[in-house]
Amino acid sequence: MYIRPAPNLRKRFGPDSWCLITGASDGIGKEFCHRFASFGFNIILVSRTLSKLQKVQDEIKEKYPNIKTKVIAQDLSDYSTKMTDRIEEEIKDARVDILINNVGACSRKLTLYIDTKLRDDKLMINVNMKQLIVMTKLFLKKMMKRKNGIVMNLCSGSGGVGCPYLATYSSTKGFCMLFSNNISYEYDEYGITIQGITPFYVSTKMSNMKPSFFVPTTKSFMDAAVKQFGSERNVWPNFSHKLIKFLSSLHLSYSMEKSYLTSQGLLKKAEERRTKRAKRMKQDHWRLERGLSDIFQFD
Ligand SMILES: NC(=O)c1ccc[n+]([C@@H]2O[C@H](COP(=O)([O-])OP(=O)(O)OC[C@H]3O[C@@H](n4cnc5c(N)ncnc54)[C@H](OP(=O)(O)O)[C@@H]3O)[C@@H](O)[C@H]2O)c1
Repeated sequence: MYIRPAPNLRKRFGPDSWCLITGASDGIGKEFCHRFASFGFNIILVSRTLSKLQKVQDEIKEKYPNIKTKVIAQDLSDYSTKMTDRIEEEIKDARVDILINNVGACSRKLTLYIDTKLRDDKLMINVNMKQLIVMTKLFLKKMMKRKNGIVMNLCSGSGGVGCPYLATYSSTKGFCMLFSNNISYEYDEYGITIQGITPFYVSTKMSNMKPSFFVPTTKSFMDAAVKQFGSERNVWPNFSHKLIKFLSSLHLSYSMEKSYLTSQGLLKKAEERRTKRAKRMKQDHWRLERGLSDIFQFD
């Protein structure tokens, strides 16, 4: 698999084909933009911050002067008819053959689930699940008419093997994997490839980790991913990530995770937060009730 040449996507879609990438202004998404521009695809970049998007756009223009680009500054957690109408309007003249649902939200700290802010849980559900469903439906309809297309969804190894202390994030990414796998079978006959692409840690702002054997740079992650673009339904591009997956199948991953967290003093901190919280709850019963009423407004 590592010696197989990358599939020729340019040949599959022909000229004037567009690739839309969400979470395009940083990390893995930015690397996707550069890579697909290098293949000759025009690029639509979507994420929140216009100035960051324009910076990536300028880089692409300079490196690949023949490639057309478009930026859409949009908060994708704020999905609504207004958001989809806007995206439809912005892309009306572009044939988007490849959709890369790359954007993701993750809680900043490893914590006990009970200590994750409800606001953060909602954000992760909105970005990692709800907008994924909305965007996929929006583009799939058009691809079905043309009987060609690729949808790539950025999942996470934590969703494949589980990850205590990142419970909501890991669960939303598990959804992403299952969703990708389920729909991939449905659209085979329409010539549409749907892929779940699964990394463990990659060195980006989100992971806040330095590159190492187990933590590839975005470039080396992409070098491995490229070879499998548009091929299998579920891909774990990096060798080191496949190794973690294998170890987790031996039930070693939780103990590895736990020893890592212990070594970083993170478990102790999480326990301390839990004790403080328990004390607070005893003192202030009304606070708990207010927390629950929050949950009932969870839509
Ligand atoms: N890095 C890892 O270790 C790792 C591991 C497994 C899976 N993943 C998955 O890989 C994907 C990319 O992660 P990354 O590490 O490359 O992230 P990153 O470096 O933190 O970049 C996040 C990108 O998403 C955009 N974004 C964030 N929230 C948004 C929102 N609400 N609406 C629109 N755009 C938003 C950011 O734009 P602004 O800068 O404008 O906010 C930025 O362009 C995610 O789905 C993540 O879950 C990452």
